[in-house]
Amino acid sequence: MIRVDLRSDTVSHPTPEMRQAMYEAEVGDDVYGDDPTVNRLQEMAAEMLGKEAGLIVSSGTQGNLSSLLGHATRGDGVIVGEMSHIYNSEAGGTSVLGGIVLRTVPNDRQGVIPAEAIRAVAAPGDYHKSPVKVLAIENTQNNAGGTAISPADTAEMVGAARDLGLKVHLDGARIFNSAVAQGVDPKELTAGADSVTFCLSKGLSCPIGSVVVGSAEFIDEANRWRKMLGGGMRQVGIIAAAGIVALESMIDRLADDHANARKLAEGLAEMPGVSIDLELVQTNIVRFDVPPGTGHGFAARMMEEGVYMNEGDSALRLVTHYGVDSEDIDFTLIAAERSIKAAAA
Ligand SMILES: Cc1ncc(COP(=O)(O)O)c(C=O)c1O
Repeated sequence: MIRVDLRSDTVSHPTPEMRQAMYEAEVGDDVYGDDPTVNRLQEMAAEMLGKEAGLIVSSGTQGNLSSLLGHATRGDGVIVGEMSHIYNSEAGGTSVLGGIVLRTVPNDRQGVIPAEAIRAVAAPGDYHKSPVKVLAIENTQNNAGGTAISPADTAEMVGAARDLGLKVHLDGARIFNSAVAQGVDPKELTAGADSVTFCLSKGLSCPIGSVVVGSAEFIDEANRWRKMLGGGMRQVGIIAAAGIVALESMIDRLADDHANARKLAEGLAEMPGVSIDLELVQTNIVRFDVPPGTGHGFAARMMEEGVYMNEGDSALRLVTHYGVDSEDIDFTLIAAERSIKAAAA
């Protein structure tokens, strides 16, 4: 029986308060713009992230896609970090559906895109290259280990983009994790971006949904793309109601997930054969390596022990979330110790 599910924060379940709010939600047809619960969520989200308007979307992928299609067109280049979720894990949607060329550049180990890399790729005037129109950044940076990109690093990336006349999209799937981890107002992390996507369905524990925020004009444009992508939903206040509960009551508690991730990382760091960079464990994601070839066996044994995790050859990831407490971490560490021994045998 699975006791602890650490595959992702997306496995988190809605809270009882969310379920109640969903049951009671006042709804309307959101494609007509007349769902009051959706409108309230969108206004709240925009206000919290310092933008004029918001747009509920079905997923983070749909939010990133609607945003990039809103900023760039066929043949345009969008700079993304080679670690980015947009490049690695969104099925190439921007290229397939938008004819957009993703111009990948290296991230540093914290997940920041160095300003010189932006300048090198986006320099105008070479007709052999796709003209770069957008810089897309990610905070927290999932593939770097859920790292919380600072306001200063964000400002540097945004500054380089602005000098080149680029729009900036922020994939802030876990932007509230980043803000809580750094003790900053999320607006400090979103200030330079023209558009931001954040997810309700990850650490904030909602069953479905993400929100895009930006200027009122941009959100109109993103709405057109959302419609084209099949994301115009109707009585979606049912979903938005959970989102409102999340924004009101689920942000501060992300600090618990971060503390649990840290405890887990420190415990794993003690184990033979585990390689982990504790500096990069800044939020709710713990990335670590086990000896090559032992990752699948380790994960399979963890499953038998009651801990659900994704497999890999050597590089592995565990993610804490609402529903995982400190005792579950103790349980996980005991399971990990036994599983490492078994996988190595
Ligand atoms: C950084 C980041 N961006 C975007 C997404 C996409 O979100 P969704 O799974 O809701 O499409 C994810 C999902 O894990 C993510 O980690």
